[in-house]
Amino acid sequence: MKNVLVTGGAGFVGSHVVDELAKRKLNVRVLDNLVGGNQNARGFAKQVEFIKGDCCSRQDCKKAVKGIDTVFHLAAHAAEGQSVFIPEFNAQTNLIGSIVMLSEAINAGVENFAFTSSIAAYGSQEKMPIAETAPLTPDDPYAITKKTFEDYLHVYHELSGIKPYIVRFFNVYGERQRMDDPYRGVVPIFINKCLKGERPIIFGDGLQKRAFTYISDVVEPICNIIGKKELVDNPVNIGTEEVHTVKELAEMVIEKMGSDLEIEYIDKRTSDVKIAYCDTGKAKKLFGYEARVSLEKGLDKTIEWAKKMGAQEFRYMPFTEIPKLTQKTYTSKKI
Ligand SMILES: NC(=O)c1ccc[n+]([C@@H]2O[C@H](COP(=O)([O-])OP(=O)(O)OC[C@H]3O[C@@H](n4cnc5c(N)ncnc54)[C@H](O)[C@@H]3O)[C@@H](O)[C@H]2O)c1
Repeated sequence: MKNVLVTGGAGFVGSHVVDELAKRKLNVRVLDNLVGGNQNARGFAKQVEFIKGDCCSRQDCKKAVKGIDTVFHLAAHAAEGQSVFIPEFNAQTNLIGSIVMLSEAINAGVENFAFTSSIAAYGSQEKMPIAETAPLTPDDPYAITKKTFEDYLHVYHELSGIKPYIVRFFNVYGERQRMDDPYRGVVPIFINKCLKGERPIIFGDGLQKRAFTYISDVVEPICNIIGKKELVDNPVNIGTEEVHTVKELAEMVIEKMGSDLEIEYIDKRTSDVKIAYCDTGKAKKLFGYEARVSLEKGLDKTIEWAKKMGAQEFRYMPFTEIPKLTQKTYTSKKI
């Protein structure tokens, strides 16, 4: 691995991956259309080349993969709940964009193709924690596109020899995650609500269980797995095994923010999976993976950063494709 491309490199996880790869003295190029709204690209190291472009554009992808040996494909519209009422936009970005990127990577002779899949691809499962051997039974369009693109990677590995490295992340949070996005990222949403002096809102009873994973616990592993033979075309869960309910998370954020706001409970979202956390035994066995940062510690760091950023206005998307399925919370801009 020498010349690397990070798609979605201006985003939350992508910008940390870019920093890590630049630190390792690799030649790093970024392709991002900046719809993520982050200004992270401004903070890149000098040797990082930035291309403003779209993964759905064949021309942009062709330009971006020139001379590249390893692609880290992170570009996505990563709002799982929102994907239910914008399925076409979701498929366009997350599936078509990924396919265009992959085909241009193959055309350019790229050797390695890392892809950030998600725990979402498992959908609802009986058995917890979820191991990689569980069947993928996605419950929403975002999850369908993650699963389907994994299938594409598998097929094109067979057909072309390109080496896919698939990581299935859990709920990642940390510095640089957007706080103004009302559709995703329960940690930054709760923090932003507290900064704004507004009550954090929970969909349902708050007993949904998640493994909130601090950013540094996913960045190093994805950079480290390239070249590991046993991980080629062999998806692996990456994240913490420390599990909390959303209610516990809200209470921790409120306490750490020194706030006395009370949680507001509203109707549950139809596609919300009740319990979702993963077994990381495979990652442990194959490359000694261990999540190191507790939710307590990770929240402290994230809150310190968020306080510096200050409260943000939530930015709602101006369109929905299926008004009937759009939660009122969003149409009435209530988050
Ligand atoms: N954050 C999490 O909890 C989590 C969990 C599982 C998987 N993932 C996956 O990790 C990846 C990164 O997630 P993130 O949280 O950093 O999201 P993010 O929204 O912060 O970053 C995504 C980036 O992709 C860019 N982008 C979107 N559409 C694009 C397009 N068509 N062409 C080029 N660039 C485009 C955006 O501008 C943004 O900078 C995504 O693939 C996401 O599905 C994230």
